[in-house]
Amino acid sequence: MSAETPSRPHTSLPEGRELVLKVIPMPADCNANGDIFGGWVMAQVDLAGSVLPARYVNGRMATVAVNQFIFKQPVRVGDILSFYAHITRLGNTSITVQVEVFAERFRAQGQYVKVTEASLTYVAIDDSGRPRPIPRGEGMVLPD
Ligand SMILES: CC(C)(COP(=O)(O)OP(=O)(O)OC[C@H]1O[C@@H](n2cnc3c(N)ncnc32)[C@H](O)[C@@H]1OP(=O)(O)O)[C@@H](O)C(=O)NCCC(=O)NCCS
Repeated sequence: MSAETPSRPHTSLPEGRELVLKVIPMPADCNANGDIFGGWVMAQVDLAGSVLPARYVNGRMATVAVNQFIFKQPVRVGDILSFYAHITRLGNTSITVQVEVFAERFRAQGQYVKVTEASLTYVAIDDSGRPRPIPRGEGMVLPD
């Protein structure tokens, strides 16, 4: 029998989104309850969210905002986490990205539970740390 309850249905992975990170949390990443610490998840999401913007900004960038962050289900030790991302806004100096995180539970590989979704904004910055325009070029994939 699955460890998941009926209120936590398995889901399929998103289509048209890029897999930008896979990682497995370890016991050192736990909070006092034995679940994975939310701050650890946020750090992974920040890294995952930066992957697509990094292709466009051509240099330094900084996270300026976490617009939304939802912990839908707990993350547990041994889950295989998959981070999918897509760009939702391409601004003059900033890029906003939606990140969705899916867990393959320990001993239930191949079945996916959405555990987290978030929206983050990254700004291209110059050597002085000030915003700079994002170069526009051929092959740029614009948001849906
Ligand atoms: C990123 C930073 C350089 C932006 O400077 P700023 O003076 O706020 O810049 P601006 O007001 O000109 O805004 C720059 C872009 O960021 C966007 N932005 C600024 N604040 C935002 C917010 N709260 N939410 C979403 N987007 C925001 C603006 O819309 C603009 O985007 P656009 O040009 O595509 O329209 C500055 O805020 C900074 O250095 N922050 C710290 C970054 C950091 O250390 N991050 C790691 C956290 S430990």
